[in-house]
Amino acid sequence: MADIELGVVVGSLRKDSFNLKLAKNVLAYFPENFKHEFLDISALPLYNQDMDAATPQAVLDFKAKVAQKDAILFVTPEHNRSIPAALKNALDHGTRPWGQNVWNLKPAGVLGTSPGALGTAMAQTHLRNVLRILNMPTFLQPEVFLHWNDALLTEEGAFVERTEKYLRGWVDSFTAFVLEQRKT
Ligand code: FNR
Repeated sequence: MADIELGVVVGSLRKDSFNLKLAKNVLAYFPENFKHEFLDISALPLYNQDMDAATPQAVLDFKAKVAQKDAILFVTPEHNRSIPAALKNALDHGTRPWGQNVWNLKPAGVLGTSPGALGTAMAQTHLRNVLRILNMPTFLQPEVFLHWNDALLTEEGAFVERTEKYLRGWVDSFTAFVLEQRKT
């Protein structure tokens, strides 16, 4: 089966990010032909429309990496009931200059975790709203609003069996969605 290049965007810049841990664990559940690369959003300057006339190198590099990908996986925390500013900044950079939307038609998956009771439900809803204008076909169901707590992980840092099983099911459905989108 042909390789699928998956770009992974983690919405948290935090070193010990729970979302980064979620992403790393979930990536181990993907089929072998799904090759992944983390797309670092931490070096991107704050978007300013003046940059459209002279796009900074860090943005050009980021956009070039996104362009190479067949699909994108977003793994995001929730900041004040929405997505973190750094993630919105990266999404905005990818859409400009006008007419050069690098996210266009890339199939997307959304995951998120938070110690809060709603497990990023609001952030993911906001993100899905943005992905619509970016024209990214987005995997819908099942949704994963993971309520983070220490009991989710084994001492080795892997997910406990029940959580792993649930997330493997999500990966199976998401990978089928990506393959289906590539046919259309
Ligand atoms: C938060 N946090 C948070 N959690 C949540 O469930 N809903 C929310 O609206 C918010 N709001 C919020 C705002 C800001 C500015 C911060 C710094 C944090 C808590 C958040 O879930 C927690 O910090 C997680 O650890 C963030 O995910 P990472 O960075 O560990 O991946």
